[in-house]
Amino acid sequence: MTKTHMSQISVVVGGQWGDEGKGKITDLLAQNMDYVVRFQGGNNAGHTIIVEDKTYKLHLIPSGIISKKATSIIGNGVVVDPKVLLEEIEQVKGQGIANPQLLISERAHVIMPYHIAMDEALSGHQGSLAAGSTKRGIAPVFGDKAYRNGIRMGDLLEPEIFKEKLEKAYNFNKAIIEKVFGLEFNRELETIYHEYLGYGEKLRKYIHDTELELFKAFKFGQQILFEGAQGMSLDPDHGMYPHGTSSNNVAGYSEVGSGVGFNTRKCVIGIVKAYVSRVGESPFPTELHDEVAEKIREEGKEYGTTTGRPRRIGWLDLVQVRQTVRTSGLTEIALTKIDVLLDMDEIKVCVAYKVDGKITEEMPASLEAMRNAIPVYKTLPGWESFTEGLKERVKTGGYDQLPENVKKYIKFIEYQVKCPVKIISFGPERNETIFK
Ligand code: GDP
Ligand code: IMO
Ligand code: MG
Repeated sequence: MTKTHMSQISVVVGGQWGDEGKGKITDLLAQNMDYVVRFQGGNNAGHTIIVEDKTYKLHLIPSGIISKKATSIIGNGVVVDPKVLLEEIEQVKGQGIANPQLLISERAHVIMPYHIAMDEALSGHQGSLAAGSTKRGIAPVFGDKAYRNGIRMGDLLEPEIFKEKLEKAYNFNKAIIEKVFGLEFNRELETIYHEYLGYGEKLRKYIHDTELELFKAFKFGQQILFEGAQGMSLDPDHGMYPHGTSSNNVAGYSEVGSGVGFNTRKCVIGIVKAYVSRVGESPFPTELHDEVAEKIREEGKEYGTTTGRPRRIGWLDLVQVRQTVRTSGLTEIALTKIDVLLDMDEIKVCVAYKVDGKITEEMPASLEAMRNAIPVYKTLPGWESFTEGLKERVKTGGYDQLPENVKKYIKFIEYQVKCPVKIISFGPERNETIFK
């Protein structure tokens, strides 16, 4: 297909704080894939894909579903809210995907109503250390997984086992919500039991041994693309802990969250937005509070797909991207939303932080350091707006047709983070993309 795709296994990961345009790039690459696999996260993710006159908003179903060619897999590392998934299946059916080619791992954990109640309670409790969660029950469901207290998709098909597990998990969670947090949890166990057995029945035809399916696909030489959700700084190990999410999103997790040890060289594509956005709470060294932020938020339509919250905005942070290159082993970068930085005299890029008077080019682990980090900027010249004429020239003529200052921006990033930019996105539409 393109110069990008030379590996049987490819992984798309978020290089910043999520919402970099992973859905758009996944959809584009999915045109040549046999499988597209989500391997972590849940419906805290929100991916918007625009193809011709249709806008698709996906939270759980892999963005590959739109291609109609690839089989979409929700892997064991994903947490599934079955009610949300059923609604999403209906939504894509209504948008012309009559027979979604979708498989869900039996081993994927289920988000239960008490997880959502617990998420609300936890966020209040964490105060200044909260991440500003999406309130979808993500931290509590991963908590139950680690406590070995969780319900898995396959359990919804086994009424006896489900009852045995649910009684334990329900009582555990209800007690914490009520006795620790002093809140009420009024949902009856019996009602939840029957409701979720019902979801299991409706989803039965999709629930599958996806780990074996992917292993066989790999052995048969089929093309597999992993679609990461969230982004580097939200990773619970490598991100800005505790201001992140609860499942790893670095590329290495693709094997854990899909159940296949591929043991082959992967193509790992880090999606990096030309500036930074952040939904939720954490230190954010390059955050802007002025009219530049407002302009970028409006031009870039920076409002959350999942919660509708206005996204916080800042200059591109290469300390963050450098960490993504390192922790995910990026083989290339897809730079998105360069069209949003239009008509600016100058654009700033953070190349290092100053912490306690010392310059560092690498992301500190310390929360104290992050709270005090002062960005060190390089200033680069801006570029004109991406008019329809310019977009057409770039679509037909490729990289050479980009404004000179965009090319300078790209070269600067490549030099700073030591990773090539191979995909450039200059609009939300599938075809507003070029390969370098
Ligand atoms: P994801 O979570 O990484 O998949 O990203 P989201 O879908 O949450 O947010 C990215 C938003 O930017 C979506 O509304 C996309 O349609 C849009 N988008 C993606 N790439 C581009 C681009 O290059 N230019 C512009 N203007 N919009 C883009
Ligand atoms: P996509 O896939 C942006 C953020 C939340 C919060 C923190 C923890 O669309 O890029 P959680 O609900 O996971 O417990 O919230 O993580 N967050 C995201 N921010 N994009 C996402 O996904 C996100 N998923 C979670 O805002 O700060
Ligand atoms: Mg998103």
